[in-house]
Amino acid sequence: MAVFRGTFLGLVVVTLVVSATLSAAHPEGFNFGWGSRWGSKPSTDHHGGGHAPAGGSHGLFPQFYHSSCPQVNDIVISVLQRAIGKDPRVAASLLRLHFHDCFAQGCDASVLLDNSMTILSEKGAAPNVNSLRGFAVIDEIKAELEEACPLTVSCADIVALAARGSTVLSDGPNWVLPLGRRDSKTASVKSSNSNIPSSRSNLSTLITAFKRQGLDETDLVALSGGHTIGVAKCSTFKRRLYNQNGNDQPDSTLERSYYFGLKSVCPSRGGDNNITPLDFASPARFDNTYFQLLLMGKGLLTSDQVLLTGNGRKAAELVKTYADNERLFFQQFAQSMVKMGNINPLTGLKGEVRKNCRRVN
Ligand SMILES: *[C@@H]1O[C@H](CO)[C@@H](O)[C@H](O)[C@H]1NC(C)=O
Repeated sequence: MAVFRGTFLGLVVVTLVVSATLSAAHPEGFNFGWGSRWGSKPSTDHHGGGHAPAGGSHGLFPQFYHSSCPQVNDIVISVLQRAIGKDPRVAASLLRLHFHDCFAQGCDASVLLDNSMTILSEKGAAPNVNSLRGFAVIDEIKAELEEACPLTVSCADIVALAARGSTVLSDGPNWVLPLGRRDSKTASVKSSNSNIPSSRSNLSTLITAFKRQGLDETDLVALSGGHTIGVAKCSTFKRRLYNQNGNDQPDSTLERSYYFGLKSVCPSRGGDNNITPLDFASPARFDNTYFQLLLMGKGLLTSDQVLLTGNGRKAAELVKTYADNERLFFQQFAQSMVKMGNINPLTGLKGEVRKNCRRVN
């Protein structure tokens, strides 16, 4: 972990120095020797990645806080820089938080509500319990925003801004983010449980879960690329190592050497909370090595590897396209994030702007 952390802090420094100039040199060794970020060749054989999110903005618009809180993004970014500097995992955690918010009753910060007399918290739902993180960072951002612009910026927008900021600070793409979401007065454990697909899902389950949210197969593959950063617990991939299909055999799609490495992190008994990177080639850098690893049989979760090996020609083609062309992946990821961020927001007079993200006003 010391190496991981040191490398990431180096990355943050480089990010700050070179700002958006992606052409700057990158520290050797960050990609563990083989990442092909700088060697990937542009490709024009791009299958199906270009679907624009046809859906409208649902009343959200990028300049929503232009006069009411012009410094909103600067505050989000400064808190993120501090938080990610202290704990590199925060970036991936916040990206996942936005996903788990939007898939349960829309992007309305329902996921942030704690248990109370009237709320059964989504934090206790199966996809979230003992695994969803980043709440303290959201609280910190909210506290600073309440100082700067009281009762103005919704928690749902903070989650969306934090997901974008985490991507940018990890050297990933930036995008124009529609804002103006309002916060729910309710939570839905049921919606979390039934709508958020699990790490063990097969391809058809993943496609169906995304379709239910108005997201297509291109969105699924691009957004799965968010696993270019972050880690997963042994408990989420143990079955693949020891008993994938109920016959005491490992998942046959796992590459051999990767499989043996994972077994040392994740024994058949115990070790459930041991963690390992989703993209070991560049665990804290937002790039397309996630897709390159899938092509080598080195995807960590079932839900990662099936994008290539599940019986969906389109998903497999997209994996190859993004493995070959990081620019296309970045473009599509940005588009799909906007689309995901538009899932069923509360706007106008619906919902409220919470004062404390953990409870209704
Ligand atoms: C995918 O998983 C679902 C739910 O576990 C199952 O019902 C379905 O048969 C699986 N589909 C394939 C193609 O394996």
